[in-house]
Amino acid sequence: MINAKLLQRMIDASTDGIVVAEQEGDDTILIYVNAAFERITGYTANEVLYRDCRFLQQNARDQPARERIRQAIKEGRPCREILLNYRKDGSTFWNELSITPVYNEADQLKYFIGIQNDVSRQVEAEQRAAQLEQQLAEALARINVLESDQRS
Ligand SMILES: Cc1cc2nc3c(=O)[nH]c(=O)nc-3n(C[C@H](O)[C@H](O)[C@H](O)COP(=O)(O)O)c2cc1C
Repeated sequence: MINAKLLQRMIDASTDGIVVAEQEGDDTILIYVNAAFERITGYTANEVLYRDCRFLQQNARDQPARERIRQAIKEGRPCREILLNYRKDGSTFWNELSITPVYNEADQLKYFIGIQNDVSRQVEAEQRAAQLEQQLAEALARINVLESDQRS
């Protein structure tokens, strides 16, 4: 069995954000954040503890992923979604967030573990690829029109 101190060191060595949240009414409030969460978001543990993580969305609340997360939390099932978040300095990043419910011994849903991974590079590369694909399709359509004009 791994000892608690070593487990703590492992969690703090992780390059993914790892947080624990507790259900409190309609909110899930943070009761633990690791060092990578502080690095990714720019917030210190003291600034975020006892708050619901939704503050990371600022005004970007109109995201379908948020509604899916909300539903999964309500139903006590795990989920994985990518959503736009804001760092403390106001810059944005794409957060691949995995949330898993944790039941206590009495089988009551009380805690959630959340893992955050900054996937901005992948998301931006995908957006760029989709944009280039669209431009290519438009260019090919224009060539087709020119060719059929020349034939007629
Ligand atoms: C363990 C855990 C970690 C979470 N981490 C984030 C996060 O990093 N970024 C974020 O935007 N939302 C995060 N959330 C989701 C929000 O706290 C909230 O549940 C979500 O916005 C849906 O609820 P709402 O529609 O009431 O805001 C996390 C939730 C849990 C339970």
